[in-house]
Amino acid sequence: MTGIFAGKTVVVTGGAAGLGRAHALAFGSRGAHVVLADIAEPGMVETRALVEAAGGTASFHRCNMADETEINAFAAAVMAESPKVDVLINNAGLHAGEIARGFFGLGQTKWQHFFAVNTIGPMLLAEALRPALAAAKGVVINKSSMASYQPATAYGVTKACLNVFTHAMAMQFAADEVRCVGIAPGLMETPAAKDGVAEENWQRLKGMQMVKRQGTAEDIANMAVFLASPEGSFVNAQVLLCDGGNQMRGFRI
Ligand SMILES: NC(=O)c1ccc[n+]([C@@H]2O[C@H](COP(=O)([O-])OP(=O)(O)OC[C@H]3O[C@@H](n4cnc5c(N)ncnc54)[C@H](O)[C@@H]3O)[C@@H](O)[C@H]2O)c1
Repeated sequence: MTGIFAGKTVVVTGGAAGLGRAHALAFGSRGAHVVLADIAEPGMVETRALVEAAGGTASFHRCNMADETEINAFAAAVMAESPKVDVLINNAGLHAGEIARGFFGLGQTKWQHFFAVNTIGPMLLAEALRPALAAAKGVVINKSSMASYQPATAYGVTKACLNVFTHAMAMQFAADEVRCVGIAPGLMETPAAKDGVAEENWQRLKGMQMVKRQGTAEDIANMAVFLASPEGSFVNAQVLLCDGGNQMRGFRI
């Protein structure tokens, strides 16, 4: 297949649904071979079929981003398949339920799990894939959130720490000419976000946005395409908001 990512390998975690699926399609339809990782195998089977229907190729692996052994095994399998990884999209994340409701009363075990999936896992996977990212002079794109700015929930805290990791990883990876950036979406219309956010809050948030339409998964995937493309290659060590202007209006979660 021809396209700007022809011959490139793009790893997408959380590729079974939502934003991850949109990223898989955006890169796959532009020629990349997409490698999916998730804990939800049926969703990955669907994503692979959609990428193939769009003319691309994809493979998938079950990988729990909270488990270092699984992360390392996944990275080894990816590198056996492809010694170069051009783009790593650390997209898998916990965002609904307790992580987004309260702050106190969660206890150490839950905090550790939230951090393991949302913050430490992305860093460990980038570290494990480092030889392949270095071989490609690739880019790591961490999926943050607008909730990372002045966070009031465990979710926002894990994503704020991911932003710090993004800056630190860019410093660490600079010697390999690997870039590390983040995307902080606003509220985007994915099935999980639709389920997890009450209808009145959707309306309130839409009302706060300066751009008067609902953000979509494709808005975020398009930003990742830009950041991974030659046109975006001077952007590094930054987390970029894509929220229709919501943050400026003082949205907090
Ligand atoms: N949709 C939004 O409005 C929005 C806004 C800001 C940030 N985000 C972030 O974007 C990412 C994707 O969000 P989404 O709306 O597509 O959600 P989603 O729930 O549809 O997708 C998340 C994916 O991550 C996978 N996952 C969860 N835990 C995992 C684990 N331990 N190991 C491997 N995979 C795991 C899930 O199975 C799922 O396929 C998340 O990191 C989320 O925090 C989403």
